[in-house]
Amino acid sequence: MQRGGGRQSLGRAPPAPLVCLGVGRRVSCPPAGRGSEGDAPPPSTQVPSEPSPERWSLLCTGKAHPCPAPSERHSLPFTPALTSRAQVQRALLALTIPLEALQAVKDRMLQAMRKGLSRQTHAQANVRMLPAYICSTPDGTGKAAQPGDVLLWLQASAGALGCLLQPGCWVMGSSWPPPTMPLQLFDFIAQCLRQFLAGISSPQHRLPLGFVFPFSCRQTQLDKAELISWSKGFSCSDVEGKDVVQLLQSAIKKQELHHVDVVALMNDTVGTMMTCSMRGEPCEVALIVGTGTNSCFMAEAQLVEMAEEISGQMCVITEWGCFGDDGTLSDILTPYDQHVDQESFNPGEKRFEKLVGSLYLGEIVRHVLTALVAEKVLFTGRSVAILRTKDVLKTHCHRWEDGGARRVLEALGLQPSEQDCCRVQQICRAVVSRAAALCAAGLAAILSHMCQSQELERLVVNVGVDGELYRGYTRFGEILQSVTGLLAPECMATLLPSVDGTGQGAAVVTAVALRLAAQRHEVDQLLAPLQLSRADLERVQALMRREMELGLGLESHANASVRMLPTYVRGTPDGTERGEFLALDLGGTNFRVLVVRVAQDGIRMASEIYVIPTAVMQGTGEALFNHIIECIMDFQLKQNLLEQVLPLGFTFSFPCQQLGLDKAVLLSWTKGFSASGCVGQDVVQLLREAAQRKQHLGLKVVAVVNDTVGTMMSCGYDDPKCEIGLIVGTGTNACYMEEMRNVGTVEGEQGRMCINMEWGAFGDNGCLDDFFTDFDRLVDEKTINAGKQRFEKLISGMYLGEIVRHILLALVEKQLLFRGKPCPKLQTRDIFQTKFLSTIEIDGLALQQVRAILQDLELQASFEDSLLVQKVCQTVSLRAAQLCAAGLAAVVEKMRENRGLAQLAVTVGVDGTLYKMHPRFSQHLQQMLRDLAPNCTVTFLQSEDGSGKGAALVAAVACRGAELSF
Ligand code: BG6
Ligand code: GLC
Repeated sequence: MQRGGGRQSLGRAPPAPLVCLGVGRRVSCPPAGRGSEGDAPPPSTQVPSEPSPERWSLLCTGKAHPCPAPSERHSLPFTPALTSRAQVQRALLALTIPLEALQAVKDRMLQAMRKGLSRQTHAQANVRMLPAYICSTPDGTGKAAQPGDVLLWLQASAGALGCLLQPGCWVMGSSWPPPTMPLQLFDFIAQCLRQFLAGISSPQHRLPLGFVFPFSCRQTQLDKAELISWSKGFSCSDVEGKDVVQLLQSAIKKQELHHVDVVALMNDTVGTMMTCSMRGEPCEVALIVGTGTNSCFMAEAQLVEMAEEISGQMCVITEWGCFGDDGTLSDILTPYDQHVDQESFNPGEKRFEKLVGSLYLGEIVRHVLTALVAEKVLFTGRSVAILRTKDVLKTHCHRWEDGGARRVLEALGLQPSEQDCCRVQQICRAVVSRAAALCAAGLAAILSHMCQSQELERLVVNVGVDGELYRGYTRFGEILQSVTGLLAPECMATLLPSVDGTGQGAAVVTAVALRLAAQRHEVDQLLAPLQLSRADLERVQALMRREMELGLGLESHANASVRMLPTYVRGTPDGTERGEFLALDLGGTNFRVLVVRVAQDGIRMASEIYVIPTAVMQGTGEALFNHIIECIMDFQLKQNLLEQVLPLGFTFSFPCQQLGLDKAVLLSWTKGFSASGCVGQDVVQLLREAAQRKQHLGLKVVAVVNDTVGTMMSCGYDDPKCEIGLIVGTGTNACYMEEMRNVGTVEGEQGRMCINMEWGAFGDNGCLDDFFTDFDRLVDEKTINAGKQRFEKLISGMYLGEIVRHILLALVEKQLLFRGKPCPKLQTRDIFQTKFLSTIEIDGLALQQVRAILQDLELQASFEDSLLVQKVCQTVSLRAAQLCAAGLAAVVEKMRENRGLAQLAVTVGVDGTLYKMHPRFSQHLQQMLRDLAPNCTVTFLQSEDGSGKGAALVAAVACRGAELSF
């Protein structure tokens, strides 16, 4: 068999004839001429009690081979009647696992792997099956790295810490872990890195760094990896549960290596798989059998439920070292293994690793020797105190071939006889062979899983293998090969020993990560103009304040973009309002007709939603108001109200110059309405005329209010502190109680009046131009009111989806999304509705659902695409919420100053689909408002009844004739 660069075929050729797990006649101990017991005795004489025929292992010679029953194998009673050779054999047999038991181990491993893959059972799984966020292996062309890429990677394995610069060249090594730990672990690593870089790199040159970190980490992307737990003797405090990439990056910063960026972290198994793939043929499985043991393989992504990727493949790190931590392996554990586990720093954990990893094999041997010494079978008459020292045989176990045993034992001062050397060597072989067989059971489980999940009759696959135990002990590979072939006969695996460790593979991953980081950088640059700093928001707040003042002033009013329209509403409800009213609610998502009964015991309402077709919204004013009257008549008929003349409150959510409570001249249409012949007209009059046309004589409009006012009044009925109304729905706007003395456009100095700000038009005079992005401009240009309602177009539901759509188009064009494939559907205006933003941003939403939404739009999104779309949505909605907060901060601060208060406590009545449906909007708005207006305590009261109730309350007061004041 070839070693180093060579290959071993599993399953292609018939299994190699030899291989004995621990015991066996093929273990020829002393070289010829040395005498001694040499080959084991014939099976029938090996143990006193003859095992049943089915326990004969077929593994060793193809012939029957004795194997004790588990209980017998494990109890190992001291039997003085046995010969010393039989006692040794007994110990060796305990370390032998028959084929059927290995088959059972493989089956249990398969089960444990499935448990780790399923979202439902993942949390309880021992074999964690962690996604590595690598979706393909290199094709051998090395295309991942670009000419001129300088890659640096840092490898922390249990034996050495190394820094490598570009594939294949070890430049520095350092003893690892450091003999003493004067520094925090990551500071130590960063310090080594600084030493390494001194004189090599110029700080001008950006150095991407890949970090090979062979511990169990929960990775969420290539450069995000939370350490789950230490192993292999490491236990540095304060690292578990933290992002290792961040810890390393900040340690590197502390060393002032500002040009070094950690772009990828990978497990050593992944590095090995990638390295072995570099040779031309893809390698889809990798094993590490060194200090510890682990494996990874390319799984069908849809089965890796924790990664939420449903197409293609995803590399999964099995973390099989923990296999058996739930007791699954108890039937194969020997008392020696139990001792090793109990004396380890993590008893009960990493049970499989403790049977396979070289860190533990020496310890297993030590315990076997100790037992045999106690039975006076070994080192008779010699001082064996040294064997009581933990780890004294730590790394020797697999180096005892060819006379090595004698050297090691003599170095320990044990003065071994020839027989001692032979027996110790047999024990070492048994321990290593068992490790190899167990490893084969694990590998067979992986292969069978791959074969089944790919629905193949026969799987042909390359397996990269690395680790000191595998490299240092020829027999390990042989056993691994043949036992895997026996346990997974449907698979043809070729072992590819890794010749240069994880080096090249790490470079590939680092290069991929670098590419991803570059893409992310491009995405960040594209989104940067949408990300507002606190200073930006303070500026928006100050501009809003200035526009408010301009809007209120008699002289400046005409030039203000925020119109600050008086509403003639002078107070909030006091609870004495009574009566039965009709109400209309026009201008939001729904057109509603309502009947509202205001009584001492509360308010009761009935309502009906009517559709206003786009053709009517954008047709003639006559048609629109005719339609409204028809809806009212239908409602009255249904509610049996046709005979009654009820006073009507009209919520009309468009900017109006109010000339009285029941007189409102439409200043402009917004939110997609454009019915002709209405602007400049009193809408109440238009309604009355339509009623006449329809011969509906029982209509008595007494009040017209904006939806912000309706909302403030509606919420004010429940909370007297409610002096602000806010709408974040199809459009956005706010109203609040202003001091009459500040309202230059209305005569009178006493008391307060509700001002409908019409803040949606903020910025229409150019004052927000610095904040508009290209995407905002594109959205604005395509609206029916281009150049108008610019603030609204940054915030409200009618526009956010469009902003997102334009960003997605730009990302596609830059090849950053949907693999740059043209998406015709995405060209369609309004295809990406704002309600998608609300869904896509739901906390903890499975990415599969994001993908389903995108699929409905005929967009084939990968896992990364879905994440990116989510990020775009988050950026757009966050900006909207923050801008809204800046506007509101200007309002509450003005109210506080108006009242000469150090602290203002006020309630905002709020309504609108975006505010109510979006999972994060309200939270971001409130957070930012607290930040921008720290002297105001603002409570948000969500309107549950719509603004029709508020319109009815205004109508109630109008009817009372109490001079329009509450
Ligand atoms: C409703 C109010 O609840 O919310 C309307 O009754 C208001 O008056 C609307 O216009 C605003 O939200 P949207 O999302 O429907 O525009
Ligand atoms: C638009 C209207 C405004 C309304 C707001 C919320 O901005 O112009 O009057 O209050 O939408 O519906």
